[in-house]
Amino acid sequence: MKATVSRKAHFNAAHRLYRKDWSFEKNDAVFGKCNNPNFHGHNYELIVSITGEIDKETGYVIDIKILKDIIKTEVEDIFDHKNLNVEVPEFKDLNPTAENIAVVIYNKIKPKLASYLELEITLFETPRNFVTYSGK
Ligand code: NI
Repeated sequence: MKATVSRKAHFNAAHRLYRKDWSFEKNDAVFGKCNNPNFHGHNYELIVSITGEIDKETGYVIDIKILKDIIKTEVEDIFDHKNLNVEVPEFKDLNPTAENIAVVIYNKIKPKLASYLELEITLFETPRNFVTYSGK
């Protein structure tokens, strides 16, 4: 029997969407307000979902306390109240779109899990806009 266990988390962060190799005009045309050179912030909501067999002894897919600690160490401590472009090395040359943030979070959490567990990241950038990534 497989089940999916999810935990919600939250972080505030600033970003700017642009490419260094494009003109300001082109960045403005593609990214609009998100290209503001002075950055802007979002209240990101994160859902980390783990799918796997329910352990016969414990009844768990994963101990949620372990998942909570991984999210704190790998995501909250690193992203919360940060400027993603400036302070998070993964975005030095990677546009911090919701898509790319979800991929970075996936790549940070996946190695911390037992290899037989499946991981899916859902990241809300606004209450209506969200991205899902599961390593495909
Ligand atoms: Ni934005």
